[in-house]
Amino acid sequence: MNPSEMTKKIKARFPSNIALVKYWGKYGQQLPCNASLSLTLKNAYTSIEMEYKPKSNPDLDFKYFFEGKENIAFKDKVVKYAQAQAEFSEFLRNNAVIIHSSNSFPHSTGIASSAAAFATIAAVLLKAAQGDTDENKFLQTASHLARLGSGSACRSFYGPYALWGRLENLPESSNEYAIPILDIHENFADMRDAIVIVEDQPKQVSSTVGHSLMKNHPYAAARFEDANKHCEEMLEVLKYGNFESFISITEREALSLHAMMMTSGDYYMLMKPGTIQVIEAVMQFRKSTGLPVCFTLDAGPNVHILYPAAIQDEVKALLDKDISPLAKSIIMDEAGCGGQFL
Ligand code: PMV
Repeated sequence: MNPSEMTKKIKARFPSNIALVKYWGKYGQQLPCNASLSLTLKNAYTSIEMEYKPKSNPDLDFKYFFEGKENIAFKDKVVKYAQAQAEFSEFLRNNAVIIHSSNSFPHSTGIASSAAAFATIAAVLLKAAQGDTDENKFLQTASHLARLGSGSACRSFYGPYALWGRLENLPESSNEYAIPILDIHENFADMRDAIVIVEDQPKQVSSTVGHSLMKNHPYAAARFEDANKHCEEMLEVLKYGNFESFISITEREALSLHAMMMTSGDYYMLMKPGTIQVIEAVMQFRKSTGLPVCFTLDAGPNVHILYPAAIQDEVKALLDKDISPLAKSIIMDEAGCGGQFL
């Protein structure tokens, strides 16, 4: 047989997600100190084309290209991750692998690129290692494996909303993997996310460091309890369609996340003056129009403006008039339903 005939190809893309209730603080092997709940994005995703063919020698043969260029640093990270998972290590031993990866969104924009990247990496490796399996089982295993690469990645397999972390009153919830949230009121079925880039430089403090600062944080216990309570409340809110509660939980969560950073032992601040200006413009707009628009933040200075599709024209006017002058750019995204193989 011609060797090229034995080369197999898997293509997939899985999205990023934005947490409404934040995961901040972890223990053990990427296990969360509290439950978190996210909106899955649609336009912000990582695409991977993976080629692989069987090899007989025992040496690692793995290449990782990001946007056309070989990326050794990220390759090392992916190899370390994949070799540590029983599900993937045999596949890596027995195959020569080339990954071509790209993102649909620019760097350092407040879109969690590691969530999209590790969701997609876990999905393609699992597909190659396991072949076709039951879809629900596949998603749960992929979510579990993606979590070990980047915690928040585990939520990218389901949409429009996913929950990760054990909640006492929800027996199917788990710290190991995310689950889909199925009971969604029509008010929240078609949410939009305008991502306002106020700063496009990489942040000074990584999320890994941020998570670790929760270890000796004076407010940790209260924060974890608060986040779990917010997850429970948000499940009800999503079910019954209450915008007011959606807004107050989402905004309080965003500010709590940053409050944790600002009050940790090695305190730091990721918000910039532009962040506050955008937040104030959103709050002012909501006050004057009564429309259900709110903000959230990731671990960075950029602002996600969330609103239902039904008011997109009004929000467009806000973005054009008041937000654009404060922004380097605005990325328009919306709720998505998870990833796909192509
Ligand atoms: O998944 P990590 O380790 O990059 O941490 C993500 C933490 C936040 O994005 C700030 C919150 C979250 O729940 O996504």
